[in-house]
Amino acid sequence: MKREISMDTAELLYENWTGQFDTFSHMEFACAIPQSLFLISTLKEDGLTNLCFHSWSCFGGDEGGYFAVMQNVSHTSHTYENIVRDGEFCINFVSADYYPNCIATIVENSNTTDEFAVGHFTPEKSRRIRVPHVKEAFMSLECQLACNVDLSRKGLNSMIIGRVLHASIEEKYIEGVDLRYGKQGFMFNIHEPADYPTGRLEDTHVAALEVLGSYPEMKNKPMV
Ligand SMILES: Cc1cc2nc3c(=O)[nH]c(=O)nc-3n(C[C@H](O)[C@H](O)[C@H](O)COP(=O)(O)O)c2cc1C
Repeated sequence: MKREISMDTAELLYENWTGQFDTFSHMEFACAIPQSLFLISTLKEDGLTNLCFHSWSCFGGDEGGYFAVMQNVSHTSHTYENIVRDGEFCINFVSADYYPNCIATIVENSNTTDEFAVGHFTPEKSRRIRVPHVKEAFMSLECQLACNVDLSRKGLNSMIIGRVLHASIEEKYIEGVDLRYGKQGFMFNIHEPADYPTGRLEDTHVAALEVLGSYPEMKNKPMV
């Protein structure tokens, strides 16, 4: 038996804070789809570094380019302001070991804060954009703003799409798959998954991947 969840009502769930289902669709918690977590680096207007811990996203492309799609960039964030003004940003993947450092960049987040300093991250020069990388990241993607769309038309968030201009990947992370897809690799957000018997939202969890196996029968076959 399947539970049917309507887009129109969140009546089966309790908000953890007033307005939670306005800021987020209740489907966010009903579906609770894991999302990769990373830091977006940008520059503030006066040149100070800015970092944003970010989850909602996906990545893909074709021979015309590779794109980072970030469905929900809050209009109230410095990141949104910086991306719209400068047209560039960098996506930095750090392992879950850095979760507390990432949170520190949210706790101290003023216009006058150097957010690399508060997160104890080291700025590293990018190849194609002015915005620095996070040195501690095992992978950084330099992006140019390609698209900015307010999907819900509520003036709250934009889907920002970045054209990836350049990638830097830590040498030991491109030797096999173990590091990238284990505890030292991509970090994931499980955002307050709903517990339907009680209607409560659980705490947010941080996760990493466990590789279950490979599929040799798919070798050399295009997945289209
Ligand atoms: C686990 C986690 C994931 C987050 N994901 C996003 C996100 O996808 N989009 C967003 O706009 N804010 C997200 N945030 C909130 C931002 O990190 C936060 O608002 C930050 O202070 C924005 O920084 P800025 O104002 O310097 O851009 C997330 C926060 C946490 C803790």
